[in-house]
Amino acid sequence: LQPKYLQGKKILITAGPTFERIDAVRGITNSSSGKMGFAIAKAAIEAGAEVILVAGPTPLPTPLGARRVNVSSSQEMLGAVNAEVPRVDIFVSVAAVADYYVLNPSEQKIKKDAHILTLELAPNPDILANVAGLAEPPFCVGFAAESENLLEYGEQKRRRKKLPLLVANQVQDAMGAEDNEVFLLDDHGQHKLNRAPKLDIARAILQHTAKLYREYHNP
Ligand code: C5P
Repeated sequence: LQPKYLQGKKILITAGPTFERIDAVRGITNSSSGKMGFAIAKAAIEAGAEVILVAGPTPLPTPLGARRVNVSSSQEMLGAVNAEVPRVDIFVSVAAVADYYVLNPSEQKIKKDAHILTLELAPNPDILANVAGLAEPPFCVGFAAESENLLEYGEQKRRRKKLPLLVANQVQDAMGAEDNEVFLLDDHGQHKLNRAPKLDIARAILQHTAKLYREYHNP
């Protein structure tokens, strides 16, 4: 691979958590730091790609050269992704999208009392599965954080969402950490990337992505 092996390619990346509003001050989120997705964005810029980074709430600085679109809820993330996706070659879905949103969020701060408060939650749409299911999808890379049966659940997820490449990691290893250890799952099988800083892991993921992308486009 050339140093600028993604020159001329447009890459859309989602990163970070989403935030689902309960009321004027509260919400539901998860412990994604956004570090892995931001590292992918940085590595993609190094490799010459044009990068659009759709980011959930995270204080991380924007990698130099990326176009950042900030979103909060998963619905907003879906909207931002759908607006960009027709013009991109590759979609890397790193965001930890909340699985549910609050059906009737309150405009005002909910007052507390001694009663049990029940929230109604409805499932969020799967942004990645929607993109991968398009008539002419970009090359889609998914992530899966699992707490057990990593390779089995990862491969099931890859097939269910119809992805050429899925990056699987242990929840306990990845969340918030500076390092990561991952498995790349594709049609050829599995490939381990040993524990390393997230930027090194990001570079290796993108190199693998570029090779597979070429296979898919020049079979
Ligand atoms: O099914 P699960 O949430 O584990 O799948 C993880 C992968 O799917 C990640 O790539 C994540 O970004 C993506 N995803 C999504 N929209 C959702 C849930 C997950 O794009 N609502």
